Amino acid sequence: MSPTAESGDTPTPVHLPVLVDEVLTYLAPRPGAVIVDATIGEGGHGEALLRRIAPAGRLIGLDRDADAVRRAEERLRSFGRNVVVRHASFADFDHELDAAGVGLVDGVLFDLGVSSRQLFEPGRGFSIDRAGPLDMRMDVRQTLTAADLVNTLDERALADLIYRYGEERASRRIARQIVARRPLRTTRDLARAVEAAVAGRGRHHPATRTFQALRIATNEETDTLESALPQAIARLRPGGRICVIAFHSIEDRIVKQTLARYARGCTCPETAAACSCGGRRMLRVITKKPVVPSLLEVRRNPRARSARLRAAERLVETSGQTGSAPARAR
Ligand SMILES: C[S@@+](CC[C@H](N)C(=O)[O-])C[C@H]1O[C@@H](n2cnc3c(N)ncnc32)[C@H](O)[C@@H]1O
Repeated sequence: MSPTAESGDTPTPVHLPVLVDEVLTYLAPRPGAVIVDATIGEGGHGEALLRRIAPAGRLIGLDRDADAVRRAEERLRSFGRNVVVRHASFADFDHELDAAGVGLVDGVLFDLGVSSRQLFEPGRGFSIDRAGPLDMRMDVRQTLTAADLVNTLDERALADLIYRYGEERASRRIARQIVARRPLRTTRDLARAVEAAVAGRGRHHPATRTFQALRIATNEETDTLESALPQAIARLRPGGRICVIAFHSIEDRIVKQTLARYARGCTCPETAAACSCGGRRMLRVITKKPVVPSLLEVRRNPRARSARLRAAERLVETSGQTGSAPARAR
């Protein structure tokens, strides 16, 4: 995807799903399977999955963006009752599956981040290259916007946010510039504040990390992912698989650590002083390293370049595999 034009007459790019063959390989959906696409977006992966599980399989799609839900419903209409799309965050995974009358499932896909369409539409405020309001909400029912964060957080909190979610070393200088220029209303205002703090321009715009940080914070992306993954893992039937595509190191780290925790036999948070989960091994990680797109795919779809796919399989035996709870030694 390369939407950089300023004029409003550039056609909105279709969102090209990434790593589709790899998703099909690792999820291995069979006819009749029940699959959850937790980030249905424009339904690209969803359609590929539905073709594999047809005619009796079922796909439950979730998305927190109402526009994506509408488009996915439209695209997948021909699959009729085999598909249900719900306007919801994957943080409410359990609730949404209960509401759809679904128990255990054969596969779950998370294709994280934003779609090309969300990035491209100036009114959504996600893109440095497109002038628009500083919004960045995936779900517009939410009240908090990126503008609220940049205009209300104190300088230190803002710097911490940009450092934490953008891994931006110049976070203090950037926060100083933002605070000096308040109120910031548009993507342009934010890009200019960062440009004033960070000289030069390499391969990426200097505000790339700051935009990422604000998007993650506005949508509480790390918290929702940390809450959704255990729910999804618990819903897998033995032999069922989970596939997660991450686009930056912060979310990929959460995926890697969560899958490793469930594969190791202790699912307690890293911060827990002692194991209280019973030490059950629930998963086998089936991607030793993250799976990345081919050069051909990146050439065809530059947005794919940072995609990292990790997958795991739910173990058949889920209790007593490690004996007593392992002592924590981390
Ligand atoms: C990369 S796109 C998915 C594209 C999709 N796989 C396709 O083939 O069209 C990511 C989607 O995830 C959605 N999303 C992000 N966070 C979410 C969350 N917490 N719950 C549900 N959907 C979310 C976004 O709104 C966006 O539509």
